[in-house]
Amino acid sequence: MPNPSKKAAVLGYPVSHSRSPRLHGYWLKHYGIDGSYEAIETPPEKLSETLKSLAQQGFAGCNLTLPHKEEGLKLVDQADAASRVIGAVNTIVMKNGALLGSNTDAYGFMENLRQNGGAFSRERALVLGAGGAARAIVYALLEEGFESIAITNRTAGRADALAEHFADNRLETVAWEKREKALQGVSLLVNTTSLGLHGQPPLELSLNGLPREALVTDIVYSPLQTPLLQAALEKGHRTVDGLGMLLYQAVPGFEAWFGKRPQVTLQLREAVLA
Ligand code: ATR
Repeated sequence: MPNPSKKAAVLGYPVSHSRSPRLHGYWLKHYGIDGSYEAIETPPEKLSETLKSLAQQGFAGCNLTLPHKEEGLKLVDQADAASRVIGAVNTIVMKNGALLGSNTDAYGFMENLRQNGGAFSRERALVLGAGGAARAIVYALLEEGFESIAITNRTAGRADALAEHFADNRLETVAWEKREKALQGVSLLVNTTSLGLHGQPPLELSLNGLPREALVTDIVYSPLQTPLLQAALEKGHRTVDGLGMLLYQAVPGFEAWFGKRPQVTLQLREAVLA
């Protein structure tokens, strides 16, 4: 008997603008794999039963997106180290009815920099923002061995809470009003806020104090060239856009569900953007 077609999905609320179906759909077609990946709109109160139902239907697994990542951690049977420390699950593998959770956002973030950032120093990072995305990124920077990491956020209490969460003496917080001064000595600048996203105000930040060798990256990828990245390019910095994080975070899930480690290519980028 031929193997049954493998199924995966992304659960979100809303989910219609998720790019994951296009991303996984591209790989399924490209590698000629008999499988499917669909978007399933899942209100928060339905998350638990939807996960159980997918496991019963023989799904290989799923992604969780907003607003399910934190709740997902509570619902899985096993969680990997990254998801436990970050406090959020974005990838679930379903095996014999059990839900195995992981977080691949930190991996996606760092792999994007490794592949597209050239050689950059792990001396000092400045992270703008303190939401869910910042959590995964701070985890990635700590794991990557950054010597010091500063977090700055409009709401100071959230930056403090994030630093306290990791309880690592390489972390410090900086007042939002002092963010330009904090650019001194920074080798990696990361925007994790929604500023610069289509329809949102741009990030207000003069890059004059940022060392020329610093790499600048943004998790916003719509537009690809955010005002921050544009300003950084004009000042001669190397920049990495945020689309790569989305593409690389999808690699471990696809491999686990469909049995093939997929490549992130220019054609994939174009297919996801189209
Ligand atoms: P996510 O989980 O996707 O990171 P989030 O938790 O809503 O989303 O975080 C959004 C980030 O963008 C926060 O750091 C937020 O700052 P606050 O904690 O002060 O809300 C930041 N942000 C959003 N709009 C902003 C604005 N107009 N000025 C400064 N920061 C802003």
